[in-house]
Amino acid sequence: MTDLIYVNGGTPLNGSITVRGAKNFVSKAMVAALLGETPSELRNVPDIRDVHVVSGLLELHGVKVDYDVKAGVLKLDPSNVETAHMADIDAHAGASRIPILFCGPLLHRLGGCRIGDRPIDFHLSILRQFGAVVDKRENGIFLSAPNGLKGTKIELPYPSVGATEQLLMTAVRAEGITELSNAAVEPEILDLINVLQKMGAIITVRTDRVIRIEGVPVLKGYSHTALADRIEAASWASAALATRGDIFVKGATQPEMTAFLNTFRKVGGEFEIQDDGIRFFHPGGELKPIVLETDVHPGFMTDWQQPLVVALTQATGLSIVHETVYENRFGFTDALNGMGAQIQVYKECLGGTECRFGQRNFHHSAVIAGPTPLVARDIVVPDLRGGFSHLIAALAAEGRSSVKGIQLIDRGYENFMGKLEALGAKFEMA
Ligand code: EPZ
Repeated sequence: MTDLIYVNGGTPLNGSITVRGAKNFVSKAMVAALLGETPSELRNVPDIRDVHVVSGLLELHGVKVDYDVKAGVLKLDPSNVETAHMADIDAHAGASRIPILFCGPLLHRLGGCRIGDRPIDFHLSILRQFGAVVDKRENGIFLSAPNGLKGTKIELPYPSVGATEQLLMTAVRAEGITELSNAAVEPEILDLINVLQKMGAIITVRTDRVIRIEGVPVLKGYSHTALADRIEAASWASAALATRGDIFVKGATQPEMTAFLNTFRKVGGEFEIQDDGIRFFHPGGELKPIVLETDVHPGFMTDWQQPLVVALTQATGLSIVHETVYENRFGFTDALNGMGAQIQVYKECLGGTECRFGQRNFHHSAVIAGPTPLVARDIVVPDLRGGFSHLIAALAAEGRSSVKGIQLIDRGYENFMGKLEALGAKFEMA
């Protein structure tokens, strides 16, 4: 696949596209298959690079992977799980943080786990509390569980998605009871809990976000259809708004997107919820500015923020966005300013409650002044979500932009060029 495309913007995106399973669930459900004694089957699996990366990692650990890409069906047979070489894991995983999630399951299955060096202190502390021994060596980290893993009580300082998943996949087969306070409860995590329950786990989620797990000695494989990718759905919704278009996102579901839908409506976008998807469209007229704060579920997701900011450049007035989940998620606004947007970023917590980044040196609030016509520019994609947002900006901008680094986008957006074509976007590959 080429890494550079030329986009001729200024045309509304109109038509219908399909989103399949959520990247941030599918990759974890694939890891969960390691915990079963029998094969698992996952359906609605999107053909994205992250799925291939995790498939490769599972294969390195002896799992038989059979992936029917077109049907979206993934069969995983973990009967012969084995230790993998660290150099192979690192070469395969690149910067991905998924390998750390292999550790709980592998400690149960093999008594040990090797991973390369990644910023994962939180995960290591959880594994230690279950009784794992963490040995940091020059070439990576070795984990072992000489006395098995035992249930424990843990309170997260922040409801981290990855840390909650780590704990779930370690606790389900640990001896005794585990209690996690201040857990994250994103829909992708709840669907992982569905999968684990199918495998034989006993997990209770309380209304105060305390998760209680009663360990069981053995789990079996699962058969499951992944929930839809609400980040991808919202990205196309924002593309419809920014280009004054009309996109039916087949597969999008309402319950996981209520916070996004409320915001979309407040900005002036319209939507129609149907049985098989959601139609998002620009009804004509002016868009309205908003004050928005990202948050953990059931709040407005951090991953929805970047594509929506592109649409906010077209709203009449000042919008304020306060990012409270990640400290550095406004870097992508520089390129937008280069295209004619007027976005100022601030270190202060603007427009909402004081967050944990408030007294620190992070540009985590943004003020967007609109409407600003966007003009074409040469863009280099910085990361997955920022990159898709740049692409939306190029599609909304008058003139011909070049967008370099688009391979980063296919980490999480299935067949996005095919979808752009289906929506009438004008672009060519270099
Ligand atoms: C998941 O990342 C997603 N990734 C992210 O999506 C998503 O943005 C994020 O959850 C929040 O919803 C995957 O599922 C693969 P976190 P994760 O642990 O689990 C801090 C995408 O583009 N933190 O909830 O890594 C951390 O720095 C990606 O699809 C610690 O302080 O997110 C951040 O500020 C991007 N210590 C906050 O918690 C830790 O040990 C939230 O991170 C771990 C996290």
